[in-house]
Amino acid sequence: MPMVFARILFVLLLTAAVIFGATDRRVTAQELTRAESVAAFERIATVFRHPRCSNCHTVTDFPRQGDDRHRHAMNIRRGPDGHGVAALRCQACHQRANQAASGVPGADEDWHLAPVSMGWEGLSIAELCRHLLDPARNGGRSGAGVLDHLGTNLVRWAWSPGISQTGAARTLPPIDYDAFIRDAHRWIDSGAACPAS
Ligand code: HEC
Ligand code: HEC
Repeated sequence: MPMVFARILFVLLLTAAVIFGATDRRVTAQELTRAESVAAFERIATVFRHPRCSNCHTVTDFPRQGDDRHRHAMNIRRGPDGHGVAALRCQACHQRANQAASGVPGADEDWHLAPVSMGWEGLSIAELCRHLLDPARNGGRSGAGVLDHLGTNLVRWAWSPGISQTGAARTLPPIDYDAFIRDAHRWIDSGAACPAS
């Protein structure tokens, strides 16, 4: 009889070990996914915060230029619709392609400033993350909508930004476009987790 008890006890313990072991693994897997999601966001954040993007995503009344993000020369202002004031629209200079001779950048899309609500200046990485997910500030986009936007020509321009007025090649975001898009999908698909602070 004691032998049978011992056996039952053994089986019970084994079952418990399997169940708890499995639960443990599930929790670990969730934590891993969250950590991966946050890590993917931290990689794409280096692009969002790069001057090629943030010079157009300002919270000021004007665009910025260069890696030092100085105020746009010639007193250019955003105007009511981000396309400049009536007398001096962005399109007066910015065309559908970069212009090597003058150093004016251009993309195959209307060149204009992102609305103030989509400005990222001064945001921490965690704040940027929440900002991008907030339909009230991102132009009513869902997570997938933000991804669609990353295929537009203004975004792609950042990886072929041409040369500046002084003839120097503009610097590129720190990761290449394909890696950026891959990580952006990874971030959304793994639950779009944001860093805690
Ligand atoms: C020439 C200016 C310009 C540049 C450069 C630019 N953007 Fe934008 N961006 C805009 C405008 C304008 C909008 C608003 C478009 C709309 O809502 O139709 C926008 C909207 C967005 C949005 C959606 C709104 C939001 O804030 O969530 C994202 C995401 C975005 N841009 C990412 C980028 C990234 C990443 C880069 C650099 C790789 C970049 N942009 C470079 C002008 C620019
Ligand atoms: C009178 C011509 C002119 C007008 C109008 C103009 N720009 Fe520019 N813009 C330039 C020139 C020239 C450069 C390049 C400066 C350089 O390389 O040193 C430039 C550069 C930029 C850059 C810098 C890109 C980078 O990452 O360094 C942004 C952003 C920009 N303009 C946005 C705008 C917006 C938005 C408007 C309209 C509100 C506008 N510009 C109106 C001439 C103009």
